[in-house]
Amino acid sequence: MPLFDPKPKTSRKDFYNREKELELFRKSIEKSPLTLVLGLRRYGKTSLILTGLNESTKPYVFIDCRLLPQGMLSIADLLELFENAFNDFIRRHHRIRYRLLKILEGIKGIRIHGISIMINPRKTSFNSIADILTAINDLGEEIILVIDEAQELRRLARYRMDSILAYAYDNLRNVRIILSGSQIGLLYRFLRINDPQAPLYGRAYIEIKLEPLSREQSRDFLVRGFKEQGVEVSNDIVDYITNRVDGVIGWLTYIGYELSLKRQVSKELIDEILVKAALLAKEELENYLKPRIQAHKRYITILEAVGTLGEASWKTIYTYLEARLGRVPKPVFNELLRNLVDAGFLVKKNIGTYIIADPILEYAIRNRLIGLR
Ligand SMILES: Nc1ncnc2c1ncn2[C@@H]1O[C@H](COP(=O)(O)OP(=O)(O)OP(=O)(O)O)[C@@H](O)[C@H]1O
Ligand SMILES: [Mg+2]
Repeated sequence: MPLFDPKPKTSRKDFYNREKELELFRKSIEKSPLTLVLGLRRYGKTSLILTGLNESTKPYVFIDCRLLPQGMLSIADLLELFENAFNDFIRRHHRIRYRLLKILEGIKGIRIHGISIMINPRKTSFNSIADILTAINDLGEEIILVIDEAQELRRLARYRMDSILAYAYDNLRNVRIILSGSQIGLLYRFLRINDPQAPLYGRAYIEIKLEPLSREQSRDFLVRGFKEQGVEVSNDIVDYITNRVDGVIGWLTYIGYELSLKRQVSKELIDEILVKAALLAKEELENYLKPRIQAHKRYITILEAVGTLGEASWKTIYTYLEARLGRVPKPVFNELLRNLVDAGFLVKKNIGTYIIADPILEYAIRNRLIGLR
């Protein structure tokens, strides 16, 4: 099921639009040591990366930081992620597999079993990561290192992953780094490219920022997707979906997929699917809030204020919060607000007002699926 396939797209034939971004991506992996692919949740970052890589002949290692456990991370967590990513790489790239295994074998703590590697966390250290990256550089051809959802690496306790990235940037000529992030503010906070004290300070990079689809594109995407599925839909239904999803391609895909499975379309069915989607968005929010036990109520109340009002000024949100939870010092409030923006739940508009970034999360708040009562 091409367009409505819920997995990230990997080939141009299922990949809707985004020609400009794909072209920029292609150029970037040819010449830039560092590329950032940015966009809120479900804007299509992973699809863009995989489709772009699929069109290139360069080998790539794909590190998916969503697979990391919650909370603070240990070196063992990181090494396990690398182990899996490299085993996947070895499986995919027959041509250079044996050369790579040979080089990796020389690293302390790495054992080779047939055509897979095993990293022993007790015999390896943080520096082993630099050794592994040096190994792929020594293959003697350009390799792309993708770190999907790279802001998660900020949770590595006591170690600085950004210093490893800076090391690779400066010394490993054959390694091109691609970082994606859906929590854009958190990714910037992790990389600190503009902070003179930080390892990555001043490095040049190319940024590809994904935007939501326009209304016209959203409608077109739905019409084509349903046509592929042989599901008939009226303009009214297409508008009904478009109005609720606001150009987020991942939600359009989700709704299109669910309706196609049911082989029938009605507003009632769409409403049911929206509730399912809203519960998913709620769960993602809860995962973010889970370690923030003390501020949990405050975060929820801020989101409730913005979600129910649709758009709200600093003052309005602050008043709303204090009316419900009592006094909150302004600096504390500002930090909560900034965290919600950096984590991609709120967007601050130019005129200084805030909106909920994700239309489905907003739907969840308005329908009281999220809240304190
Ligand atoms: N250009 C596209 N054409 C068709 N479908 C797409 C496109 N981009 C994304 N999708 C679909 O939207 C959904 C989200 O895409 P993807 O996982 O690539 O986004 P993402 O930004 O990486 O999301 P997340 O933040 O959840 O990691 C998937 O179901 C994917 O198939
Ligand atoms: Mg993704």
